[in-house]
Amino acid sequence: MERTLIIVKPEGVQRGLVGHVLARFEAKGFKIAGLKLIHMSRELAERHYAEHQGKPFYEGLVAHITSSPVVVAVLEGPGVVATTRLLIGPTKPAEAPAGTVRGDLGLDVGLNIIHGSDGDASAQREIALFFTPAEVLAYPRAVDRWIASA
Ligand code: RTP
Ligand code: MG
Repeated sequence: MERTLIIVKPEGVQRGLVGHVLARFEAKGFKIAGLKLIHMSRELAERHYAEHQGKPFYEGLVAHITSSPVVVAVLEGPGVVATTRLLIGPTKPAEAPAGTVRGDLGLDVGLNIIHGSDGDASAQREIALFFTPAEVLAYPRAVDRWIASA
């Protein structure tokens, strides 16, 4: 089954939005397969954001993501990578439509509430960064029969 990684960033945790954000993905029908609160080390943040190394916003991004705890979650379901990105919205909250997490909850690109993997390969890489295989749980849900091909 397809999986993705989301991170509720420090501003989301500080603003008390963890439950609200997770509820959107649960309500959509995605299954939570892994979930934890962590304070990211600089080393982990550098590995997670390796693709952005050298960009003007990189140092601020790493400093911010390591500044306070985040919630990391593995979500599972059909089309979860692309649909999660749709529900999150564009990187800049000012350009994100109403109804998306960033459109509804954010103002600033550096404080855009949430991270979501941008493809299958990055999802697999990122899940392995934050979760051991034993921490990603496979379990049946009674509700799955109401969610097509879940
Ligand atoms: P994410 O990785 O967090 O899901 O966001 P994304 O794919 O929409 O954006 P990405 O290009 O991967 O950038 C990662 C994060 O870096 C911050 N950023 N700041 N100041 C800037 O111009 C700028 N550009 C990107 C954002 O917090 C973005 O989520
Ligand atoms: Mg990205």
